[in-house]
Amino acid sequence: MGRITIAIDGHSSTGKSTVARQLAHKLGYIYVDSGAMYRAVTYFALQNGLVDHDGLNEAGLVARLDEISLNFGMTDEAGKSPIILNGENVESAIRTLEVSEWVSPVATLSEVRKKMVQQQHQLGGEGGIVMDGRDIGTVVFPQADLKIFMTASAQVRAQRRYDELLARGDQISYSEVLENVTERDRIDSTREVSPLKQADDAVLIDNSEMTLEDQFQLVLKLALQKIDQI
Ligand code: DC
Repeated sequence: MGRITIAIDGHSSTGKSTVARQLAHKLGYIYVDSGAMYRAVTYFALQNGLVDHDGLNEAGLVARLDEISLNFGMTDEAGKSPIILNGENVESAIRTLEVSEWVSPVATLSEVRKKMVQQQHQLGGEGGIVMDGRDIGTVVFPQADLKIFMTASAQVRAQRRYDELLARGDQISYSEVLENVTERDRIDSTREVSPLKQADDAVLIDNSEMTLEDQFQLVLKLALQKIDQI
């Protein structure tokens, strides 16, 4: 049976990662959360004084990109593999609102994107991979066998992210989260390099009113159809 490449793109907090991870687990494929890579670079910038009251020190970050080494750790039973930044497991540290607030500006930098895309190509060169992000079907793997574009209303997405942050114990208001979600949509969709947009050949899924199980069954059906054709 052929091992295909599956690209799942879409807006922030659509639950892409959960569905992508479940799908990879079911198919026995590698799963790569490309957003975690941009978040880890952002975390590095925050930890190294490259973000201050003047904002993001873009030139400073670009000059230090060679110091950033990213890997994914061993997969646990839930199919999760933590992101490792210079030997440190930062999977939890990259999920804060502070990282979410700075990640879109970091992801607009073409030098950062170039480095991330190179690594993504190395991870996915052989097929048998599910990768989620913003530009996977358009830029990273334009020849992907199956492309999904996920969206949901901003309110539904903000509520989901808010519930997640509350469960972690973060002190946050729903309106701050909604503002972050809509601001990231704006920056991600309007940036010059690799903006978030649906690939012409992607299947659009609006999951505002779908359960996780519905979404999983739908993407699994689409994937099995593609695998059958190969
Ligand atoms: O999927 P996420 O919300 O964890 O992604 C965090 C940010 O990273 C998102 O706001 C935009 C950026 N990103 C990107 O520019 N390209 C990708 N392939 C994945 C994420």
